[in-house]
Amino acid sequence: MNKLAEFAVVMKGITKQFPGVVALDGVTLRVRRGEVHAICGENGAGKSTLMKILSGVHRPDAGELEIAGQTVQFHSTRDAENAGVAIIHQELELVEELTVAANVFLGREPRTRFGLLNDAIARRKTGELLDLLEASISPVEMTGGLRVGDQQLVEIAKALSLHASIIVMDEPTSALTDAEAERLERTISTLRQQGCTILYISHKMDEVFRLADRITILRDGCHVCTVDKEGTTASEVTGWMVGREITEHSFRRQQATGTCLLEVENLCVAPQDSRQSGQLDNVSFRVHAGEVLGIAGLMGAGRTEVLEAIFGSSPSQCQGRILLEGEAVSFTHPSDACNAGLVMVPEDRKRLGIFANLNVTENISICSLFHAIRNGLLSKRIEEDIVADPIHQIGIKAPSLTANISELSGGNQQKCIISRWLLTKPRVLLLDDPTRGIDVGAKAELYELIETLCQNGLAVILTSSELPELLKLADRIIVMAEGRVTAEFSRDDADEKKIMAAATLA
Ligand SMILES: Nc1ncnc2c1ncn2[C@@H]1O[C@H](COP(=O)(O)OP(=O)(O)OP(=O)(O)O)[C@@H](O)[C@H]1O
Ligand SMILES: [Mg+2]
Repeated sequence: MNKLAEFAVVMKGITKQFPGVVALDGVTLRVRRGEVHAICGENGAGKSTLMKILSGVHRPDAGELEIAGQTVQFHSTRDAENAGVAIIHQELELVEELTVAANVFLGREPRTRFGLLNDAIARRKTGELLDLLEASISPVEMTGGLRVGDQQLVEIAKALSLHASIIVMDEPTSALTDAEAERLERTISTLRQQGCTILYISHKMDEVFRLADRITILRDGCHVCTVDKEGTTASEVTGWMVGREITEHSFRRQQATGTCLLEVENLCVAPQDSRQSGQLDNVSFRVHAGEVLGIAGLMGAGRTEVLEAIFGSSPSQCQGRILLEGEAVSFTHPSDACNAGLVMVPEDRKRLGIFANLNVTENISICSLFHAIRNGLLSKRIEEDIVADPIHQIGIKAPSLTANISELSGGNQQKCIISRWLLTKPRVLLLDDPTRGIDVGAKAELYELIETLCQNGLAVILTSSELPELLKLADRIIVMAEGRVTAEFSRDDADEKKIMAAATLA
């Protein structure tokens, strides 16, 4: 490789079409050697597609790619890896049935002198990488049993194990809590000191402004501009992203006075195996009509477990009392919960959210299809009418209503899942990190939607890996650590410092 090249990556006039969409339209991007280059844009702007071309997943319809001054053509991700390019995908692509170490070294398994697999080396090296990320994950754990945030750390370890000189990170922190994201930021600083070039996609402006040297903005598949971080501001960047002003909505809802819709008393979930500590330990709280209850906590604190236990989707046995509108309930299957007016938008959209083989309309209508049955037959026209409203309301961007859901950008997939549950007209809505991977504009829309739902008397329980989001939306916040509730704050009392102290048991 030409060590003197100023640019580690040059992408010239890149065009990529998918059936019905121009994902990229003549995009040119120059990334300097050793810089952290952020790529910003709304959901569907073309960020992931551009990075998939750089990492050999997709081939461009037109345009050229240069790595360190040399023109290259990648036919596979292996070609890109050989040229020193590694990618951490937005939608995690780990093999759930394999251990963490096996995933990190998939296809590149260390071997002994005799050509046999050398698991010990794979385990040791994986352990070292996970230590670097300060992750408490064992290399021999099954990947499928890990939470999304931990899977994201494994994906990061995998990219690091390639010793690539160019690392693409496609929303690496979307499922990480603030503390984990900070560790990743330290790792990025170290990588940069070692001379790595990093391309970084994120919807979190504070992160972009802490990390990046330069920022490229894409809109609707086109390159808008590339700017030095020092010469711009977050609001300028979001302005370029959306091409319009985003009005900051103020959330000054009145203190909830509605009836208690959901009451949870002494919820306990026993650990799945004897080595783990208890997953949930006597969790109690109430949520009222018109109220947003936030649940804060670090990864593994039990936030998702609480929601799953209520929704009936917990893999483990639950104990305790759950009262829905005053009546004791115990759901063993999410469909029972849904029929009773309680629904959950899960954090792990790839595994639990989308039906990858169904189209956009079907993914949204699937829980409300009975409304579209006429004379015993499913009316496609009524089905399309049913989904038209939420698609419009949340602003889902899809090439067509019959496009396969996996053709949508990550953020738009998430919006489809939220629409699906809203169509069931729930009384209680459980949102597990619902804005993961959603752009600023769509976030503002979702916030407004939550506000409207509350005004209509819904009760919402919300978890978020972003504290500012909880502080903005929640009327009350409970904090969890090690499966227990360690603090409760009203909106006016809560601040980041107090919440972090309760979350870390400081
Ligand atoms: N495999 C595919 N088949 C068809 N269309 C696709 C495919 N992948 C992406 N697209 C389309 O290309 C456009 C750009 O998508 P892309 O995933 O690059 O967006 P993005 O900027 O990464 O968005 P997000 O912030 O939501 O992740 C979108 O309109 C999307 O629907
Ligand atoms: Mg993307």
